[in-house]
Amino acid sequence: MEESNRVPNHIAIILDGNGRWAKKRGLPRNMGHAEGAKAVEQCVYNCADLGVKYLTVYGFSTENWKRPDEEVNALMKIFRVYIKKLMGVAKKKNVRVLMIGERSRFAPDIQEAIEEIEEVTKNNTTMTFIFAINYGGRDEITRAVRKIAAKVKGGELETGDITEDTISSNLDTAGVPDPDLMIRTSGEQRLSNWLIWQLAYAEFYFTDILWPDFGMEELKKAIEYYNGRDRRFGAVK
Ligand code: IPE
Ligand code: IPE
Ligand code: MG
Repeated sequence: MEESNRVPNHIAIILDGNGRWAKKRGLPRNMGHAEGAKAVEQCVYNCADLGVKYLTVYGFSTENWKRPDEEVNALMKIFRVYIKKLMGVAKKKNVRVLMIGERSRFAPDIQEAIEEIEEVTKNNTTMTFIFAINYGGRDEITRAVRKIAAKVKGGELETGDITEDTISSNLDTAGVPDPDLMIRTSGEQRLSNWLIWQLAYAEFYFTDILWPDFGMEELKKAIEYYNGRDRRFGAVK
């Protein structure tokens, strides 16, 4: 990576390809998820080292409950271990951790662990790491609309006063600037319900690399690509 490269303020990643990574090695899919969790941990270190201010990672979608029970259960086990590991990373690197998505569907101990890590890291300032679990862009917008409707019904808000900011500030990502760069690994080129409101003006980077293989070199390539883009935001330059 050129030293002159600007580092995106906010990177949002769809980690994909854990299953295929395992399959290629004749391993069960769950081994791919375990490797994928290690890659997430490393990615938090890498982004903090490069000076990224916000990193958001898609760990489990509202649609991923459709997977076999065995795989969902294995993923829940990985989250339990991973949240503990993340606590160590957050302390070492002064990282604030936030979780987005609808959390009431998780087991009580996972919900408690999420609340704890958010509380313990809330004053950390080097980077904000946002982990999305049971996250779906449409679900997030639906929940935001419900919150806004309740405010209108309660007389706190006039219909005519609803702005784009009202919507942004009722999403799970309230207060977080929109992503500048969106990365998806494993060759798929779709959003799969990822941050559909927030990615309105992000640059998209797709790579065939499978998520467990996405390390610092690959991250630097994505940032280099981002630096080659001309962001016009609808204007003329
Ligand atoms: C991404 O890897 C992790 C999750 C969606 C939980 P996949 O499990 O989707 O891996 P592939 O796409 O089957 O290879
Ligand atoms: C998107 O990956 C969800 C996460 C990375 C958590 P999927 O592998 O579930 O997406 P599809 O099924 O290929 O669209
Ligand atoms: Mg996948």
